[in-house]
Amino acid sequence: MRTLTGITPSGTLHIGNYFGAMLPAIEAQSHGECFYFIADYHSMTSVFDAAERRRNTLGIALDWLACGLDPSRSVFWRQSDVPEVCELTWMIGTLTPMGLLERAHSYKDKVAKGLSPNFGLFAYPVLMAADILLYDTNVVPVGQDQKQHLEMTRDIAIKFNQAYGETLVVPEPLIREDVAIVPGLDGQKMSKSYGNTLDIFGDEKTLRKKVMSIVMDSRTPQEPKPDAGRNLCIQLLRLLATADIAADAESRLRAGGLGYGDLKKTLFEHYWNFFAAARARRVELAANPDYLEQVLSEGAVKARAVASVVLKRARKAAGLE
Ligand code: TRP
Repeated sequence: MRTLTGITPSGTLHIGNYFGAMLPAIEAQSHGECFYFIADYHSMTSVFDAAERRRNTLGIALDWLACGLDPSRSVFWRQSDVPEVCELTWMIGTLTPMGLLERAHSYKDKVAKGLSPNFGLFAYPVLMAADILLYDTNVVPVGQDQKQHLEMTRDIAIKFNQAYGETLVVPEPLIREDVAIVPGLDGQKMSKSYGNTLDIFGDEKTLRKKVMSIVMDSRTPQEPKPDAGRNLCIQLLRLLATADIAADAESRLRAGGLGYGDLKKTLFEHYWNFFAAARARRVELAANPDYLEQVLSEGAVKARAVASVVLKRARKAAGLE
């Protein structure tokens, strides 16, 4: 069984990304075959600065490797190192109805947000379908926001197979229900667009300040707090500390006597320690850009070995050879 997912190279990652997407992807490495790539072609629909793209691409590769992506257990590459995906994009694009693309929520949302509606932005879901279909993917773990893209991918694969005979594997989406929804610092879902994030990597002073300025209510430390279980810091502690530590802080908060300042200090300490190993590993990796390039190019070789077989099959089926 082959699992594949694309990683958007879009700046800094936060702990919502970590618990919602990275951790499940890293854990998946111990069962089945994992194909993970950095979607730098996709980034061209919204980033128009070459240096920024290069920086983001390498930065996110470091983030993932530091957090536990293991290139000896998964195939990890940069999308554009296997440009065959563009040929498949064309082939399946000719079978993709305009109406299907016009109904894409992500396209409509992006245009509504002010992105210029260029061909690439419109074709984004076709490139994404090609990413998936080029590797005979069985399962694609995605968030709710990508569900429609997966349905489009399945439609396109089925259309191809109807036109040219059984050629492409029709993938299944895996919408994870069991992952933690991480609350942001304002209590809404943590998301970059709400500006309520806690980053995975960052400097100690800034992150401490962010934690210490989480807004709590005005009850005094002594007051018992029967709603301690819903306290934001407690919810975050449950993710970042052991169950015992989170339960202990919760009961002290409930009983009265634990002030919010001390609670936030405890939260910061556990948050900082939780990512200590990843942080050290990232520093080590960043000091060795040749190693990173080597990891990505070895990944591209492995990815291409699969891609070239599937592309040949598709070319033959479509009468290109
Ligand atoms: N569109 C995905 C996102 O924004 C990234 C992506 C690109 C992707 N190609 C993919 C995800 C293929 C899964 C499979 O998160």
